[in-house]
Amino acid sequence: SVAVTGAPPTVLVDKLIHASLYHGCAAAGVRPVRFRHNDVSHLEALLHKVEGAGLKIVLTESVFSMDGDRADMVALAAVCRANGAFLCVDEAHATGILGEDGKGLADGQADLVMGTFSKALGGMGAFVASSSAVCRWLENSGSGYIYSTAPSPMVLGAVEAALDLLPRPEMERVRVRVADLAERFRRHMQAGGLDTGPSSTQIVPVVVGREETALALSRSVEAAGFLAIAIRPPTVPPGACRLRVVLHAQHTVEQVDALAEAIFSGVRDIP
Ligand SMILES: Cc1ncc(COP(=O)(O)O)c(C=O)c1O
Repeated sequence: SVAVTGAPPTVLVDKLIHASLYHGCAAAGVRPVRFRHNDVSHLEALLHKVEGAGLKIVLTESVFSMDGDRADMVALAAVCRANGAFLCVDEAHATGILGEDGKGLADGQADLVMGTFSKALGGMGAFVASSSAVCRWLENSGSGYIYSTAPSPMVLGAVEAALDLLPRPEMERVRVRVADLAERFRRHMQAGGLDTGPSSTQIVPVVVGREETALALSRSVEAAGFLAIAIRPPTVPPGACRLRVVLHAQHTVEQVDALAEAIFSGVRDIP
């Protein structure tokens, strides 16, 4: 267990966390210390160097939004435990779609989990799950929470219905289906010599390098009926521009195959 003290905290973040988490640090007046992406040894070395009595907070995502890769939750939890650090995990891209009953990947590993209702659950708004002491503390000290209106009953009804569905056996089949579609798409890309980075989830980047290439490719797949956004700096590093493809349960195998064809044809047409 970790106690909240008056001393300033040290917040250690995976370099590739989502902009919203960096904004959270800025709003809290905290300058985060960054560890190399998914590099638990680097995090451990940095934790050893932290001085002072303040809380050590580690902030990461379980599925990274632009690469579709996963954090090693077991290793992160072990390092945090060994160093008295409080582990917070953003499960935006795991809630509902990964883990047992769609509970995400940090279940039982993190001290605090946050997630959004806006992705797999099809609603909007977000949640934080932690010990009741931490939740009460956040309710009473988080100004963004205190000074904003609660979600509407319509949204909460939709979210509640989605949460009821998650543990049902047919939803497990849906989760497997989405994973299979993503794997099929990755195989197509890789067989055609394209780079899908470290993706192992429903988020599959097709890394093409230059900004102009990513934009032209996005336009050409759109003309073929597919929406795949070009992601460019500062969201990704220069030279790592990409199409960000996200598979969902209503996609069909035929659509995945047709998208792959549209991407290959677009790549062939780019000078
Ligand atoms: C990792 C991550 N966290 C948080 C958010 C924010 O979620 P919302 O748009 O529901 O506020 C996103 C949204 O894109 C995200 O990718």
